[in-house]
Amino acid sequence: MDKIKKYGEEVLRSNSEEVKKIDGTILDIIKKMKKVLKEEKGLGLAAPQIGISKRIFIALDSEKKRIFTVINPEIIKKKGKEIDFEGCLSFPEMFFSIERAKTVVVKGQNDKGEDIIIEANGILARCFQHEIDHLNGKLIIDYATKEEKKVCKEKIERLLKK
Ligand code: CO
Repeated sequence: MDKIKKYGEEVLRSNSEEVKKIDGTILDIIKKMKKVLKEEKGLGLAAPQIGISKRIFIALDSEKKRIFTVINPEIIKKKGKEIDFEGCLSFPEMFFSIERAKTVVVKGQNDKGEDIIIEANGILARCFQHEIDHLNGKLIIDYATKEEKKVCKEKIERLLKK
C-alpha cells in the first residue's frame, strides 16, 4: 500500500483536528512522518498525507538541514507575494504555479509541547503555507488554472480511478 495518501482520498479534504495533548501517540506519528518524508525525498509533509487527520506538519529547511515540527500551526503574519511552481507528494509528477506570501510567521507547538514562533522566508515559507493548507483540506489543485488542470487531466483521472 502507498505510504502517501493521494488526491482523491477523503482524508486529504478533511479539516484536521487540533492536537490537545502531545503524548506518545503523537510522537509516534511525528516519527513516522519524518521517516516517510525522508523516503519520499519531500520538503514537507502534513499528517493527513499519511492518513492522520491531526494538525501536525513537518518541513525541511534544506539550507540549515533541519526539520521543523509544528503542531497546531497558525499563520500570524504574512508579508510580500511570490509566484512559483509547487508540487506535492499527494500529486505525483504535477506542478502548479501558486502565489504565496514571501514571508510568514507561524506559531504553534514543537514536539516537546513548547510554544514556538518561526519566521520563514522563500521556499520554507511556501512550504509552511502549503502544509497548513493540508490541515484545512486545501490542496494545490485548488489554485490551478483551467489550463494547468487540462495539462494534468490524465494524471488526475488516474489518481481518482484508484
Ligand atoms: Co502537499
